[in-house]
Amino acid sequence: MDAENTRDDNIEGKESRGISRKTLLKAALIAPAAPLLFGAPALARNAQGTGQLLDPTPFCDDGDDPTIAQTEGPYFKPNSPLRSTLTGPGVPLTVSGYVFGRSCQPIANALLDFWQADTNGAYDNTGYTFRGHQFSDAQGAFKLTTIVPGLYPGRTRHIHVKVQAPNRPVLTTQLYFPNEPRNNTDTIFHPSLLMNVRTVGSGREASFDFVLNIIGTPSPSPTPTTTPPPSGTWRAGASYRAGDQVTYANLTYRCLQAHTAYAGWEPPNVPALWQRV
Ligand SMILES: [Fe+2]
Repeated sequence: MDAENTRDDNIEGKESRGISRKTLLKAALIAPAAPLLFGAPALARNAQGTGQLLDPTPFCDDGDDPTIAQTEGPYFKPNSPLRSTLTGPGVPLTVSGYVFGRSCQPIANALLDFWQADTNGAYDNTGYTFRGHQFSDAQGAFKLTTIVPGLYPGRTRHIHVKVQAPNRPVLTTQLYFPNEPRNNTDTIFHPSLLMNVRTVGSGREASFDFVLNIIGTPSPSPTPTTTPPPSGTWRAGASYRAGDQVTYANLTYRCLQAHTAYAGWEPPNVPALWQRV
């Protein structure tokens, strides 16, 4: 995260706050098809078919965490429920979008694990309120139904998320809201992670497209090898629940998040789903 860039991006005034040079460049590329609405970050989906190589979504560590070396941040908990609707009091919010690779190809079956504060700015560290994971569909689309997270000391308004394409590294990042006063002072905030947000009735509708650092379509199958698959109890196609244990290549793993296993999601490949015991 580059705090100086954040200040530079904000120096031009409230209306332009949050639009980085990169975002403007991206918007300019799509201008003939979708004129830039001032204050609205461009969506990666609009670059489809242009042949433009997209910048990956930046990584963003949670700097308010004393254990910052852990990419999960201070309030991440494994084992989040498989659900796309997070319920509780607050202003209704939907966050929808797509997961793309850098060539703008949709990434199907990407794991998206969201966690956020409640309307009062508190995280549920004993249960799983406002925590849940889902998978992108065949078009790479996802939709989270939740509430607008509250503020807590030292941070601007944000939603945490981990995104992982099958058999690929985890992207840990955060999503931000435009026109938040604290965006100016939050040293973790980055304008490229601003969502498009609009008010609909008494709620909000937000959109954001993730761009993973993947070129080409990730194969759902592991790279063929000349050696037979390692022996063990793990099986593609099986449904696992958090806490389940399997063996794979003579090692034991514990399931962190309920999921249906795909080829390519062997326990050593998906640390978001399996932990060595
Ligand atoms: Fe947070």
